[in-house]
Amino acid sequence: MTQPPLTTNQDLDSARLREAFGVFPSGVVAVAAIVDGAPIGLAASSFTSVSLEPPLVSFSIAATSKTWPTLRRCDHVGVTILREDHGEVCRQLAGPVDHRFDGLTCSVTGQGALTLDDGVAQFDCTIHEEVQAGDHVIVLLQLHAVAHAEASMPLIFHRSGFGRLSASA
Ligand SMILES: Cc1cc2nc3c(=O)[nH]c(=O)nc-3n(C[C@H](O)[C@H](O)[C@H](O)COP(=O)(O)O)c2cc1C
Repeated sequence: MTQPPLTTNQDLDSARLREAFGVFPSGVVAVAAIVDGAPIGLAASSFTSVSLEPPLVSFSIAATSKTWPTLRRCDHVGVTILREDHGEVCRQLAGPVDHRFDGLTCSVTGQGALTLDDGVAQFDCTIHEEVQAGDHVIVLLQLHAVAHAEASMPLIFHRSGFGRLSASA
C-alpha cells in the first residue's frame, strides 16, 4: 500500500485550490447580451451542460462580478463556445469592460442575446435559476436555440493556460 496523496486538515487556501482545480481541462464560453444599447459580457470556463429535458446548461459567476448584476437583467443571454484560436479573444472578454467586444464580429437576437459569429457553438438562453454556492453563484440557463459548427475545434483552458485538442488516433 502506498502513502495516500490526501492528508487531513489541509489548509485549503485559494492558491492551492486554484492549482488543483486547474488540472481539470475545460472549454471557455462568452456569456453576453446587449444591455441599454451596449454589449456586456465575460469569459467563463465554468460552463457545463446540465439537462436535456428541459434543455439546461450552467456556469458559475463570482459573487464579486461587476458585470453579472447588469447582465442578469436581460431577457435573453447568448453563450458562445470559444474556438481554439480564441485565446486572445478570451483574455479580452475577461479584461477591461469597455473593450471586451472591440473588433469582434457578433450577432444579436431580437431579445438581446449576443453571440460571437466565429465561435464553435452558440446558444440563446434565459436564466432558469440562480443558486448561491459559496463565493460563486451557479447560473442555470434554459436553452431556446442552438447552433454549432461541424469543423471548428474548441479553445481549451488547462492549468491557467490555453491549449488545443490534439487529433485522436
Ligand atoms: C479563461 C478564463 C475563464 C474564466 N472563467 C470564469 C468563470 O467561470 N466565472 C467567473 O466568474 N469568472 C471567470 N473568469 C473571469 C471573468 O471573465 C471576468 O474577468 C471577471 O468576471 C471579472 O469581470 P467582471 O467584474 O466584469 O465580472 C474567467 C477568466 C478567464 C480568462
